[in-house]
Amino acid sequence: MDRSLREPLDELQAVRAVCEGDSADAQHIVDHLYETVPHYSWVGIYVLEGADLVLGPWRGPQATEHVRIPVGTGVCGAAAASGETEIVDDVNSDPRYLACFAATRSEIVVPIHFAETVIGEIDIDSDQPNAFDRRDQSFLEQVAVLLAPATRELQNSLSTGA
Ligand code: SME
Repeated sequence: MDRSLREPLDELQAVRAVCEGDSADAQHIVDHLYETVPHYSWVGIYVLEGADLVLGPWRGPQATEHVRIPVGTGVCGAAAASGETEIVDDVNSDPRYLACFAATRSEIVVPIHFAETVIGEIDIDSDQPNAFDRRDQSFLEQVAVLLAPATRELQNSLSTGA
């Protein structure tokens, strides 16, 4: 089975279309990724609040207990600390991994930047080992650019308690 993105550019166009729609928000993009890419088994956005990542919109079969992760902790915290994408081919052999779902085998975490600062990240788990490659990375890094304004809004509403 081809576990890769079939046409990353088409996928990106589709995500752009979601962004330009009337309801261009992070939940719609999360839903779109979850529904259209078969090896994306759980999709979530974490938003940086102070020194913690706070879970925002997500889509998947189950909720995660990790709704607040300190920067520097877990794969998510590592990506937030470095500002670089993390790909974990086998979560069971990465000591940083914070387990959420028994079925997860691999994970990608892609930081979302605003004004050259990390403001959040996309976290995707796959039930397949080695599910994520450079095409996912490149695609999701471009999705992260599209997500920056919505993530900034989420961050602002966290800080104002709105
Ligand atoms: N596995 C992540 C925690 C978040 S859950 O995957 C939703 C980590 O190691 O940081």
